[in-house]
Order: sequence, then structure tokens, then C-alpha cells
Amino acid sequence: MSSYNITSLNDFIIRKQKDFPYARGELSSLLHHIGTAAKMVNAKIRRAGLVEIIGNSGEENPQGEQQQKLDRYADEVFIDALEASGECCGFASEENQREVIFTETFASKGKYVVCMDPLDGSSNIDYNVSVGSIFSIYRRISERESEAGIGDFLQEGDKQVAAGYVIYGSSAMLVYSTGNGVNGFTLDPTIGEFCLSHPNMSTPSSGNIYSINEGNYIRFPEGVKKYIKYCQEHDPDTGRPYSSRYIGSLVSDVHRNLLKGGIFLYPPSVSYPNGKLRLVYECNPISFIIEQAGGRAFDGNRRILSITPESLHQRCPLYCGSTEMTERLEKMLG
Ligand code: AHG
Ligand code: MN
Ligand code: MN
Repeated sequence: MSSYNITSLNDFIIRKQKDFPYARGELSSLLHHIGTAAKMVNAKIRRAGLVEIIGNSGEENPQGEQQQKLDRYADEVFIDALEASGECCGFASEENQREVIFTETFASKGKYVVCMDPLDGSSNIDYNVSVGSIFSIYRRISERESEAGIGDFLQEGDKQVAAGYVIYGSSAMLVYSTGNGVNGFTLDPTIGEFCLSHPNMSTPSSGNIYSINEGNYIRFPEGVKKYIKYCQEHDPDTGRPYSSRYIGSLVSDVHRNLLKGGIFLYPPSVSYPNGKLRLVYECNPISFIIEQAGGRAFDGNRRILSITPESLHQRCPLYCGSTEMTERLEKMLG
């Protein structure tokens, strides 16, 4: 008897497309190409210690941070895959100062633009720590007959058509949402397919993990310091003290907290008055996933997804995770 009982990412994407009677498969094709590019990046990461790929590329990204060789590789793979899909007319990422507009190929007429952190947590890559990729998809607002423009990329997070991340951990996993819940797919390396492993992901309303780079404590806003102290207090009734868990890879920290319940904080500080994380390709897609899984994400005042970006590499404080924990923090921030 056959033992075929998997739902591959592509099966799932096509099945979901049928839920939208007028869908023409463009988004499905785009997601399929992101999945394929993610497998290529995963393959490279799995061999990182064996080939000439780890380490610094000797160049800097637009924010003046060192680019790792894998940052460059991942950026190129996603750009090529998205252009080849024909459905994406432009791309913006951490690794490019300006948006990349596809003008030469039939992709120029594509309906979507994609914003990405191609490799998140890349400073961890030389030390065999989990990294990720983050993606955010918008319907273009420019005319399809014209070239895509910056306005297509600077839409508020609420306008995302789909978003997700890939985590290159002990397994590789792709998690995405098109605004109807969140589903997770684990790569089965024996058949080279992402297989549905985490259907309808939802995050617990509370948890016992707080994730923050506490080395910066002294520079944090008072409300954040107060919340950290709250997390550390002894109160068995509320499960405190909480555990402190911080990998330093946004995708990995958020993924763990999403599954187990918890809160992630990247506050503003003296050195980073708007925090360190980037609104367009880090905070927005991550917040979309968290809200779709039943959690919350805000910048101290506003829902992340309600912010209209002013520039591609704009930074933004991020507090996200389980509802009860983020609500308590919000009260303490005042
Ligand atoms: P990237 O590697 O894409 O630049 O992102 C690194 C980010 C994020 O993954 C992580 O949450 C954060 O930097 C860690 O920053 P600190 O080292 O300041 O804690
Ligand atoms: Mn990042
Ligand atoms: Mn990155």
C-alpha cells in the first residue's frame, strides 16, 4: 500500500488558491518560487562550514553593517527567483540601498512587490546558530503598464497580501500567512519538499519566556526596565520568574516564542533611538505572522502594521508576542 500522506507546500498553496474563486495563481506562483529559493539558501547554509562561503564578504550593507557572504548569496537567489516567477515587478531588501525594479523581463508587469531580509541573524552564521529569511508581499499600487516605484514598497503592514519567514534551524521550516491564519512546513530533506507540519499555528495567550538583549539594559526606557524586573520577580502563581531566552536571530527568537508563548522586545536605546530592527522587511512581516497567530505587535504606541513607512530602511522598536504579556508591557510603558 502507498504511504503517500504528505501535504507539500505546493499542494497546500494550490489548495488554498481554490478558496479564492477569482485567483489566477499569481500569488501561488510567487510563493512557490520563494519556497524553491529558500531550499537553495538552505542547501548552501547546510554546507557553510565546508565551502568557501562563511565569513565576511568585505563589503557593507546600506546601513553600514558588514555583509556576510551568505547575505549576498541569499539576496541574489531570492532576486533571481522572484524575477523568474514573472509575478513580482520589484524587490527591496536589507542588502540593497534602493529598490530593485525588474524592467527587462516580463516580470515588469508582475502584480506584486516583495520586501525581504534575505538572511536574518547572519552574524550568527559562522558559529552554527540558526538564521532565517523574512518576506513580505504587497500588491503594487503603481499601474501595471508602468515601472514599479518606491510607493509600492512603502505601504503599511496591514496591506500585506502575504508574509512569512524561513528558519534554517535543526530543521528548515517555512511559515507563512496570506491573512487566513498561519501554517508551517518542515523541509523533509529526503524528498526535498516542505511538508505541512504545523497547520493553523496559534500562539498561546501567555507564556514564560522573555527575549531581549539585556546587555543593553542600562540604555533602555524606564518602562522596559520595569517590565524586565517584573519578568524576574518570584511569583509562582503567574509562573515567574520567566525564562530569559535570546538567540540574537529575530526569526529564531520569534519562532520559539510563537510556539511556546512569550514576548520579544527590541526597544529603542541611546545607540539606536528607533531600535535596531527594520520596519519594512523585519517588523512588518513578523508582526503580520504574529497577529495572524493570535498575538500582538506594537512599537510602544502603535500597532506595527498601522505604521506608514517613510523609507525602505527605517528602523522601528518592536515588542511582540503573546497577548497578555504584550498588554502588561504596554501598561508599564505608559
Ligand atoms: P540581520 O542579521 O538581518 O542584520 O538581523 C540581525 C538582527 C535580528 O536578527 C536580531 O534580532 C537582532 O539583530 C539582534 O541584535 P542585537 O545583537 O543588538 O541584540
Ligand atoms: Mn535581520
Ligand atoms: Mn539580514
